[in-house]
Amino acid sequence: MDSKQIRSTFLEFFQSKQHRIVPSAPMVNKDDPTLMFTNAGMNQFKDYFLGNKKADFTRVADTQKCLRVSGKHNDLEEVGIDTYHHTMFEMLGNWSFGDYFKEEAIQWAWELLTEHFKLPKDRLYVTVFEGDTDDNLSPDEEAFKLWSRILPEDRIIYASKKDNFWEMGDTGPCGPCSEIHVDLRSEKEVAETPGRELVNNDHPQVVEIWNLVFIQFNRMANGSLQPLPDKHVDTGMGFERLAMAIQGKRSNYDTDVFQPLIQQVAKDAGIAYGKAEETDIAMRVMVDHIRAIAFAIADGQLPSNTGAGYVIRRILRRAVRYAFTFLNLKEPYLYRLVAVLNEQMGEFFPELKAQEAFISKVIQEEEAAFLRTLETGLRRLNELISSGSKAISGPVAFELYDTFGFPLDLTGLIARENGLTVDEKGFSAEMQKQKERSKKAAVTEAGDWVAVKGGSEKVDFVGYTQLEAKARIVKYREVKEKNKTNYQLVLDKTPFYAESGGQVGDTGYLTDGKEKIRIIDTKKENDLIVHFAERLPQQPEAEFTAVVDADKRRYTQNNHTATHLLHAALRKVLGEHVQQKGSLVNEQLLRFDFSHFAKVTDEELKKVEEMVNERIRQNIQLLEECDVALEEAKKKGAMALFGEKYGDTVRVISFDPAYSVELCGGTHVTATGQIGLFKIVSEGSVSAGVRRIEAVTARAAEEMVREQQENIEQLKALLKNPKDLTAAVQGLLDERNKLAKELEKVQQQQAGELRKELAAKVQETDGIQLLIERVSLPSADALKTISFELKNQFDRLLMVLAADIDHKPQISVVVAEALIQEKGLHAGNLVRELAKEIKGGGGGQPFFATAGGKDINGLDKVIEKAKLIAKQ
Ligand code: ALA
Repeated sequence: MDSKQIRSTFLEFFQSKQHRIVPSAPMVNKDDPTLMFTNAGMNQFKDYFLGNKKADFTRVADTQKCLRVSGKHNDLEEVGIDTYHHTMFEMLGNWSFGDYFKEEAIQWAWELLTEHFKLPKDRLYVTVFEGDTDDNLSPDEEAFKLWSRILPEDRIIYASKKDNFWEMGDTGPCGPCSEIHVDLRSEKEVAETPGRELVNNDHPQVVEIWNLVFIQFNRMANGSLQPLPDKHVDTGMGFERLAMAIQGKRSNYDTDVFQPLIQQVAKDAGIAYGKAEETDIAMRVMVDHIRAIAFAIADGQLPSNTGAGYVIRRILRRAVRYAFTFLNLKEPYLYRLVAVLNEQMGEFFPELKAQEAFISKVIQEEEAAFLRTLETGLRRLNELISSGSKAISGPVAFELYDTFGFPLDLTGLIARENGLTVDEKGFSAEMQKQKERSKKAAVTEAGDWVAVKGGSEKVDFVGYTQLEAKARIVKYREVKEKNKTNYQLVLDKTPFYAESGGQVGDTGYLTDGKEKIRIIDTKKENDLIVHFAERLPQQPEAEFTAVVDADKRRYTQNNHTATHLLHAALRKVLGEHVQQKGSLVNEQLLRFDFSHFAKVTDEELKKVEEMVNERIRQNIQLLEECDVALEEAKKKGAMALFGEKYGDTVRVISFDPAYSVELCGGTHVTATGQIGLFKIVSEGSVSAGVRRIEAVTARAAEEMVREQQENIEQLKALLKNPKDLTAAVQGLLDERNKLAKELEKVQQQQAGELRKELAAKVQETDGIQLLIERVSLPSADALKTISFELKNQFDRLLMVLAADIDHKPQISVVVAEALIQEKGLHAGNLVRELAKEIKGGGGGQPFFATAGGKDINGLDKVIEKAKLIAKQ
């Protein structure tokens, strides 16, 4: 079976067991503060496990794009070095939400592996949970019994919490698990060492392929386990490892998932895969990482300097570094693999296919930028090497790592080649310091939710039609951030819109008639709407009125609707390739990022602005359709954004179905006329292939126009109300340029005369041509010019000029080469000494130095001192 058949066999198998096949959720997480990237198939179902939400289907299966490069599950450092870990991988999974449990999960897993995928039964081992005293959990004898009906007991192994109790993160759904391992070694190797001994022992050919988790608990922030209302099944099978097992390979990279990429790299680098360990690792790193990078960008996460974007940037740099060091690829290269990847995976993952050009463009630019940094770092290293230094200190090695992206092993390699040592301990100490710094900077500790009596679990959002509602607090928790404590509240009913789709969260207050609690923000946590309050009400169980700040909401939704109008206009004016890449909508402005490869011209911007304002004047009514089937919405022309998670049904917002149709959960004006006016403030580049437009509407747009008008009025008044303002300003500029040229000529003449005067004052005694004078000059440049002219005119000159430059003191010192040699004079040292008199400082070469200062009255003293020094 090739990998495509493996994927479809898995999905068809579970379909035949009444599972609903769902699409992979985006790899980049948006609404879960505990998780940056999807790290397991179950992430998107977290709320079903926790009982926050009821599932429409109790049996589900899919293949999920996962990324394990941060947080609890992080494999980054192993990737490429070994042959079976990845940054991005596909996790095949089947789920039961309170439906079937251990028996079916175990039986079906066995049936699929042995009957459909035909893995040899005697090469499979399973592990079960041995129990844990700290968590007060007994061994999973039930799973053991179920397995013992299927395979001999000597191939069922009890294992510890570390391997057989699965947790999503520090908190969240978890439970004991049972893993299936496969032994892919040769008969001879098996005869020598029984597979049983190698299970869970990091052997590259005895690996876990499938994990069956029996979810029963919620791990709380205080470390305790809280039993969940229902029992669930969560399984995850490594698609790439399964392909290795089925295709009889000894490495994931030998399967058809990776071979096309590897062969491409080998061809382009001119080095065969399998030739040497070092170059093999580099190829594996590259082909693994390109998948993670390409899919992250496809899901809307561009490389950047913070958060998830920074993780992606680091992965990309790791790949570039391996290509650069071991395969001698010194030009941007990775981006060329996007086409190969698309060939392989584009069919199943349309987000890749649709954005291939964009993705490769972003990667190419990012590579080019990093290669420039690498070069600068290399120069820094070379300077150190050529300065004759014998060691690279900890702080320097760390600077190379932190600023230039040189990991310690690369610094070490270059150092060794040049006979230098690296202070590794010093490096680790610097690293530790930085870790502590960032730890301090970002501590947010969320406590556990506290349920409030009388509340229900169902949260009702009424904010599309109401700005006020009666509500009760369902639960709350304390959140500590640096020195501040805030509270998060969940209400049974709320008019507060939670930040999403670019629109900021509502603010407002809760009141029970006795006190008023300010709500400073509203955010989503998966599907929960969480209200941020500065304090807790005295009686949390009271009935409250929840009131949204209406003005803020109104101005925000003006901007949200304007964003839709802008998006449509951009697609009309620039073309259908325009796709939303980011959006911010608040009460002040809208900021819209979109894919487009060139600067938007003034002409185009004008067209876009006109089109939006035209739609505003048409006063188009909002058409809101809720619970539309996703497919039907797409038929209406609504564009689904890549990287967004959509349910089976969606909300469709149209302003003229022939003009703007979007899938959107945000709040909008009821008719476009309410926006009043739309003005573009700026257009610019965010990153390769992504442009940004900022614009304002309504009152803010009016203010902008008024301000511009006022500016013009002031200018006119200054210029005595000319008929043509532009011509008047142009006239002024022309005149100014003419004057500047004339002034320069006069100054040059004066300088020439001054030089002659000064030359005449040079006095020669004891073989020194001495000149110490006070002068007045228009600029520091003029002082420098005149100093050099005199220097060239005399060959035994010692000169000090104390200059008044536009009422600021400046000193220049010149020492002829001959005097440097014979008398050991040094202009830099002299100028430093003299500068004390003008409360200043400076320095320079032995033959020429300058200094500036604060005290113009000190210039006479400079002259005196200089004369004294000259005499000595
Ligand atoms: N959630 C389980 C895992 O990721 C299946 O291993």
